Amino acid sequence: MSRTVLITGATGTVSTALMNALRGAEVDLRALVRDGSAADGPRERGAEVFTGDLGDARSLPPAFEGVRDLWLLTPNGPRAPENAMNAVWAARQAGVERVVRLSVVGAAHDAPNRSGRLHALSDREIERCGMRWTILRPHWFMQNLLNEAGDIATTGTFSLNMASARIGMIDVRDVAECAARVLLDDPDRHHGETYTLTGPRSLTFDEVARELGLALGRPVTYLPVGDEAKRKTLLGHGVPEWIADMLEEYARAYASGWGDFTTDTLAGLLGRPPRDIAGFARDHAPAFTPARDG
Ligand SMILES: NC(=O)c1ccc[n+]([C@@H]2O[C@H](COP(=O)([O-])OP(=O)(O)OC[C@H]3O[C@@H](n4cnc5c(N)ncnc54)[C@H](OP(=O)(O)O)[C@@H]3O)[C@@H](O)[C@H]2O)c1
Repeated sequence: MSRTVLITGATGTVSTALMNALRGAEVDLRALVRDGSAADGPRERGAEVFTGDLGDARSLPPAFEGVRDLWLLTPNGPRAPENAMNAVWAARQAGVERVVRLSVVGAAHDAPNRSGRLHALSDREIERCGMRWTILRPHWFMQNLLNEAGDIATTGTFSLNMASARIGMIDVRDVAECAARVLLDDPDRHHGETYTLTGPRSLTFDEVARELGLALGRPVTYLPVGDEAKRKTLLGHGVPEWIADMLEEYARAYASGWGDFTTDTLAGLLGRPPRDIAGFARDHAPAFTPARDG
């Protein structure tokens, strides 16, 4: 019998890649979205769309009815643990068998960033949820570089407050393939496991710039900036203050060497090495390229 997998965060970066990775698999996809009129992405990927808000427990039960597996992704923000709690409760009430949860690299009660500490709260809850569970803790997403695509396209530069940080960054498509692997395997196989997922090498942003330049056929330069300058830019683009603070905490941690590591967990799960930044740069080159006039 085909299993119904409920995808949360279904319009976002990771869950979209997950639905791509599950294409053709023997599962019935169901997507939880806040706005049904903005759910073309999940529909195009074959998902049945249910509306609901992780911040509103009363909106969730219909989407969870008949679900066997929950992919639980909570958006960043101070209410993330409440969002996760609402989903876990709805899952328990509905008799869901397994939860696969997206956490974050370094999630811990003493993580140097609020996102890591909030994720740790939800990780603890999952560990006691009474269902089978698996937690994925991916490293910094290569896809975060797409936030810099406008600057790279127009000026050939990008500015981050990461100093000379080295980060074992990962391609979101690999995170999604690991999630799909876990969801398609027997629920007992990965039960109780927490997987820290990274890319194949720990990179500085100078190295990232060089790889982007090679893929684009023109130079790309990383310009380190201070926390205040980056914060001003983010707030100017409408990024909420809480998120700007969170990003600053990550930047400081990374600048101090906190993210300078890789693991071989992904290779163990997928039986192949993780995608490299060079492939990310090639595959996303159009996003970093100026639009042609007229
Ligand atoms: N960026 C990184 O480097 C990194 C690394 C490791 C882990 N992570 C973790 O990845 C997660 C973010 O994943 P992402 O990048 O795929 O996110 P994203 O692209 O920002 O998408 C967030 C998704 O959550 C949905 N959402 C927001 N509020 C909701 C609510 N109240 N109820 C239901 N759905 C809601 C959004 O739907 P709408 O369309 O309705 O807005 C959207 O589908 C976070 O937990 C973060 O800590 C990030």
